[in-house]
Amino acid sequence: MEVVIEPPGVIAALVADAVEGLLAAKPEAVLGLATGSSPQAVYDELARRCAAGRLSFARARAFMLDEYVGLPADHPERYRNVIDRDFAARVDIAPGAVHGPDGTADDLPAACAAYEATIAAAGGVDLQLLGIGTDGHIGFNEPGSSLASRTRLKTLTTQTRADNARFFGGDVGRVPRHCLTQGLATIMSARHLVLVATGAGKAEAVHHLVEGPVSAMWPATIMQHHPHATVLVDDAAASRL
Ligand code: GLP
Repeated sequence: MEVVIEPPGVIAALVADAVEGLLAAKPEAVLGLATGSSPQAVYDELARRCAAGRLSFARARAFMLDEYVGLPADHPERYRNVIDRDFAARVDIAPGAVHGPDGTADDLPAACAAYEATIAAAGGVDLQLLGIGTDGHIGFNEPGSSLASRTRLKTLTTQTRADNARFFGGDVGRVPRHCLTQGLATIMSARHLVLVATGAGKAEAVHHLVEGPVSAMWPATIMQHHPHATVLVDDAAASRL
């Protein structure tokens, strides 16, 4: 695992460099998209470079990590809508080329199985962008998640719901209790993992990710077993390394 400690602006540029390099070598690349605040600066930088003609997503495809269950299709915090707003609408990726788990499906296990099959049919993910939760989750794989898990229904922890309440007017009661998330084994199948973490609130999770034993109680630690994982953190997030 490669650990890079840089200011947030440099981190966004470095991740955009990795995406730009991938698209130059493989225009039909498959990207893995994360939500949350951590990737925002990366999406801003990718939108800038796309507008400047430095890169194109025209032939690329993308797969989201996770989705809330129970939000109406038009809810602004539904991850599909967040990704459309923050990424897809700002670059030249084709309509229909961005996929996500369907948190509105009647049969959620079937939707999870279908999502796994769609990722596999696309040839897997080339570059997976990741944030990390304060409890060490990646995607929505909360502590205790099986290290061998695939896309499935999960219950969100109280801590994650509290962390995400800021996106729901500060009201934890409005944060969904359940989600669909790619499993840890699904994420580990991507060919390059790129995790971004900034701020002191992530310092403990980053400490476990980089220096702790691999454990389902800190799910991101599974990344220590990945052959090509890059962790980009600012000084504050690196403060316990
Ligand atoms: C969210 C998402 C994760 C994200 C993490 C950190 O709940 N499901 O994919 O990486 O928690 O979010 P943030 O970057 O906003 O701190």
